Amino acid sequence: METKIIDGKAISAAVKDEVKEKTALLFEKFGVKACLAVILVGSDPASAVYVRNKKRACEYVGFESLSYELPEETTQDELLGLIDKLNADDKVHGILVQMPLPKHIDEKTVIDRISPAKDVDGFHPMSVGALCIGEPGFVSCTPAGIIQLLKRSGVEIAGKECVIVGRSNIVGKPMALLMLRENATVTVTHSRTKDLPAVCRRADILIAAIGKAKMITEDYVKEGAVIIDVGINRDPESGKLFGDVDYENVFDKCSAITPVPGGVGPMTIAMLMNNCLEAAIRLSGAKL
Ligand code: GUN
Repeated sequence: METKIIDGKAISAAVKDEVKEKTALLFEKFGVKACLAVILVGSDPASAVYVRNKKRACEYVGFESLSYELPEETTQDELLGLIDKLNADDKVHGILVQMPLPKHIDEKTVIDRISPAKDVDGFHPMSVGALCIGEPGFVSCTPAGIIQLLKRSGVEIAGKECVIVGRSNIVGKPMALLMLRENATVTVTHSRTKDLPAVCRRADILIAAIGKAKMITEDYVKEGAVIIDVGINRDPESGKLFGDVDYENVFDKCSAITPVPGGVGPMTIAMLMNNCLEAAIRLSGAKL
């Protein structure tokens, strides 16, 4: 059977168009202009690109966006002060602090300071706890985007064996909780897992979030599996991007796969827009 390439660009465009439509409706019916505040501290070049893309997406869907580009020397107290101000500002619905932060600032302290009602990244312990016990709250954007990729590609999740490689707080752990919510049977693997290829070969849906280029080869893949590749690894010599999956090697063995780039990557920003719209709806009490 032919392998299906899951098109993250097309699916993210569809999500953003839906957000755009609802954003316009929220403004027309309730006079609420959804607004995302983005904070960047320091001059990490990759972070600057991500922040620029987030601002562009805000423009596309019709959000107001507030941008704070703070110098590397910004103190933790100054950053916390800005977050307090944005938490208290009724015109702001989402607050995003781009990670990583400079070494003298403690990321956990910063994340904990963001109001859970405006935590569109889904990183606050309250958001993670809500996800864990199935209460409403914001879900980390990359795993939320993967659920959309699967659903909108017609991949059935309920009852399937799902193996997740990687247990980070941003991807692996929330991914496991979301797949569980969708009634998959979930296994989370990591660097200490014994015979990783054999565990991965159990998967109907294999999600690779390791951060090691081309690690997943056909030896890890069951015939007909769906493969989701979260990796973004830049080859320092060619500058080319590679996923955690050896795409050419596994292609004929799987039934569907996400490419890198153009798979999971574009979904993250689309889901950020979706979370921020949701924040604006909840905070304003609008019934759309
Ligand atoms: N740095 C890398 N990915 C992310 C993300 O999803 N959110 C934030 N805030 N920072 C990041």
